[in-house]
Amino acid sequence: NFHPLKDMLQRPIRDLRISVTDRCNFRCSYCMPKEIFGDDYAFLPQNECLSFEEIHRLTKLFVSLGVKKIRLTGGEPLMRRNLSDLVSQILSIDGVEDVGLTTNGVLLGQQAKPLYDAGLRRLNVSLDALDPELFGRLNGRGIKPDFILKQIEYAREIGFEIKINMVVQKGVNDSEILPMAAYFKEQGITLRFIEFMDVGNDNGWSFKRVLTKKEIFERLKNMYELEPVDQDYFGEVAKRYRYKDSDAQLGFITSVSESFCSSCTRARLSCDGKFYTCLFASGGFDLRQMLRNGANDQELLDVITSVWEQRTDRYSDERTEQTAKNRKKINMSYIGG
Ligand code: GTP
Ligand code: 5AD
Ligand code: SF4
Ligand code: SF4
Repeated sequence: NFHPLKDMLQRPIRDLRISVTDRCNFRCSYCMPKEIFGDDYAFLPQNECLSFEEIHRLTKLFVSLGVKKIRLTGGEPLMRRNLSDLVSQILSIDGVEDVGLTTNGVLLGQQAKPLYDAGLRRLNVSLDALDPELFGRLNGRGIKPDFILKQIEYAREIGFEIKINMVVQKGVNDSEILPMAAYFKEQGITLRFIEFMDVGNDNGWSFKRVLTKKEIFERLKNMYELEPVDQDYFGEVAKRYRYKDSDAQLGFITSVSESFCSSCTRARLSCDGKFYTCLFASGGFDLRQMLRNGANDQELLDVITSVWEQRTDRYSDERTEQTAKNRKKINMSYIGG
């Protein structure tokens, strides 16, 4: 009889979000502002990143403690070479029920096929605007939305189930809420609005730039009839709605206005092998060092167990203008959301 590991607030461990690289080919200002992530920024050298063998071994251990759902993130995960090999390795682990990948979509043209062949079925693609000039500015690289839309179409033809993530910043891209909703409703693709979060310490966050779920919903409900959809599983992050006249859905990720820490079942593993118990953590536990010093499986399991059992994180429940500014937090691009 198997008892999944629980933390101090009785939250089971259920998901593992694995960052496979801290690099990205975009420079979204809310995640990797250009002034900080410039040409001379010191990304992790390859030997400091976990190898696929190391990730596979740790994932197996996490799964034996209760993890069922894996999400691959970055940075931009498609910048990691041969990512489809990692997908096959993860899918071969007994007990893994679901694997997803969060990407900006730029490299799907080359990688969607090998990823699908390796068994991946779910993609979350980030897209913050359909206006070419605005999107080009937001991604910091002048990439046009049409290019990303083509990659999405291609991945869909291959057979992927796709959701779109849109980070909404008041006064920056909130004018894109209705055009995005109209476009993806038409396409039958789920669009999720994400409240702008104070991740890291340099993304210019303030409450003033947050448009809440309630405010976004106000705008939509003048245009569409929407009804709530039950959550798919305990601890699902997005609150979803269905259009009354279509199969398409909308979702809201409300870390700021309606935090969801009380059901947070997510563990995070950084590219360099640190184990974090919150997106807004200041520090993590160095599993890479243990791995490379020859720790055996039981030693690793004991450490993961004790870190999770001592977990008390509930950052978003306690967020204030002060914690947003003063707490030292890891970078979004390093932990992958
Ligand atoms: P699925 O529901 O499995 O499709 O994935 P997901 O929504 O959990 O993952 P995704 O990487 O697409 O994340 C969407 C948004 O939710 C991102 O902005 C994440 O940073 C945010 N998010 C995911 N998990 C958490 C969490 O535990 N806490 C907070 N505050 N935000 C989270
Ligand atoms: N607030 C909210 N969401 C963010 N993301 C990146 N930075 C932020 C932020 N500051 C989103 C990305 C991606 C997902 C992993 O997290 O757009 O869709
Ligand atoms: Fe890259 Fe995603 Fe961060 Fe944008 S949000 S810089 S695409 S990792
Ligand atoms: Fe989980 Fe931390 Fe996000 Fe709360 S803020 S939901 S504890 S990751």
